[in-house]
Amino acid sequence: MKIKNICCIGAGYVGGPTMAVIAKQCPNIKVTVVDINEARIAAWNDENLDNLPVFEPGLDAIVAEARGRNLFFSTEVDKAIDEAEMIFISVNTPTKTYGKGKGMAADLKYIELCARQIARVSKQDKIIVEKSTLPVRTASAIKDILDNTGNDVAFQILSNPEFLAEGTAVEDLLSPDRVLIGGDTNPEGLKAIEALADVYANWVPQDRILRTNVWSSELSKLTANAFLAQRVSSINAMSEICEKTGADVNEVSKAIGMDSRIGAKFLKSSVGFGGSCFQKDILNLVYIAKSYGLNEVADYWEQVILMNEHQKQRFSDNIVSTLYNTVSGKKIAFLGWAFKKDTNDTRESAAIKIADNLLNEQAEITVFDPKVVEERIYADLEYLNTRSNEENRNLLKVENDPYKTCENAHAIAILTEWDEFKTYDWKQIFNKMQKPAFVFDGRGLLDKETLEDIGFVYYKIGTGQ
Ligand code: UDX
Ligand code: UDX
Ligand code: ADP
Repeated sequence: MKIKNICCIGAGYVGGPTMAVIAKQCPNIKVTVVDINEARIAAWNDENLDNLPVFEPGLDAIVAEARGRNLFFSTEVDKAIDEAEMIFISVNTPTKTYGKGKGMAADLKYIELCARQIARVSKQDKIIVEKSTLPVRTASAIKDILDNTGNDVAFQILSNPEFLAEGTAVEDLLSPDRVLIGGDTNPEGLKAIEALADVYANWVPQDRILRTNVWSSELSKLTANAFLAQRVSSINAMSEICEKTGADVNEVSKAIGMDSRIGAKFLKSSVGFGGSCFQKDILNLVYIAKSYGLNEVADYWEQVILMNEHQKQRFSDNIVSTLYNTVSGKKIAFLGWAFKKDTNDTRESAAIKIADNLLNEQAEITVFDPKVVEERIYADLEYLNTRSNEENRNLLKVENDPYKTCENAHAIAILTEWDEFKTYDWKQIFNKMQKPAFVFDGRGLLDKETLEDIGFVYYKIGTGQ
């Protein structure tokens, strides 16, 4: 079966870039991305490519090439479902904030609504592709809904987890390490798997397209993210030992990363991992383990999250204790709010927690991030519900000039590893700060010697004092 018409439900960080790349690489397939969020679709359709709702290096050029040719963004969800032979579900699956599994299980409300909508609208057989990160066995739940509420059409459900990382999404999509497709092992299931494999084969070598059963595919996604997060928590645990003993975590990372059994990637000590996936997926894994009574397995993975929370907490504690045990009324400048560089995404960003801790200590915070907009920053704080919006807005200001952000500050906290921070005139920044002028480098971004020569008191995560 040759696919000619694809629909993707959900025009977010995953759906948008993934469909843009599929459309670019498969000019003969019509790709329609739909979303119930009208503002988001309008932004995807904006003439001015700077206004796309997702910032990713290289994405604007791809959208410019494919949009209007075979890539369309629309709010007409029913129409797009009806026309497509293959439907990707790429809606958000946040951690539940209510009821059973609160704070741990994934909230499948949006997925279920999608499945019901697809069942209601579909008049021909369709292949449904799970793209969102989902707990193991979601595919069978989707299938149940489709088979029991539909119009007697046949559905095949595939799991095709997304491995793209934000900030490098376009690169990751254009040359993925692997594409994973899980499906039923009966003849119809295998046919559906091949239909999706054919789409990817337009640009991905066959030996990188893995076919598995649905459950292996679903669990592989959670496992990959759990392993990656575990590496970050492991090196962060070492960073605290390094600070106490005088070892340098960057030297340790390099030394262990050269062991080919360990490998060099994901060993950068930081102020703590963020992003929409790591915490959610591990909590999910913990929830699944607990639901099968596997308490030791659950505890093992939960420790990765606890370590991450500790890393954020000790970073803000260190700021307070270094500034003579009080930051009340002191200006602290934040460089960076996004959860990593080259993205405007702030979900679970360490900066949010650190700001919240320092605001509890009555600090006055000024934030600069090259890509995150003011309203996003306030929305992130509001979501915590720690204090009123008015208090947040009084205590925390957002600036669009980094030099102004640091003016009169007692301390600077580097929370995202944006490249441009390295190119600033640090002497000029130093001259306009309160003295002693402190820099707390949560990303190990700057050069200790240079900063100390200028006169800063410089703290770098994972290096002995
Ligand atoms: C280890 C280190 O690898 C080596 O660098 C260090 O110098 C000494 O300790 P060793 O204990 O000789 O070497 O063997 P290793 O191959 O690391 O295996 C250790 C244990 O882990 C074995 O029981 C092995 O069966 C087990 N293992 C290893 C697994 O169960 N699964 C794996 O994937 C790898
Ligand atoms: C992750 C997975 O990498 C990706 O495969 C999956 O599809 C989605 O989740 P993402 O969250 O976009 O991608 O970014 P990633 O590069 O994995 O970084 C996650 C967090 O870990 C960031 O906050 C980053 O700063 C932090 N990190 C990463 C470190 O602190 N140190 C490292 O060495 C690597
Ligand atoms: P992700 O990082 O997984 O892509 P996002 O939150 O960025 O998550 O994107 C998910 C998108 O899915 C949002 O834009 C949201 O409006 C959309 N969405 C959620 N439920 C539905 C639905 N039933 N129909 C269409 N779009 C939906």
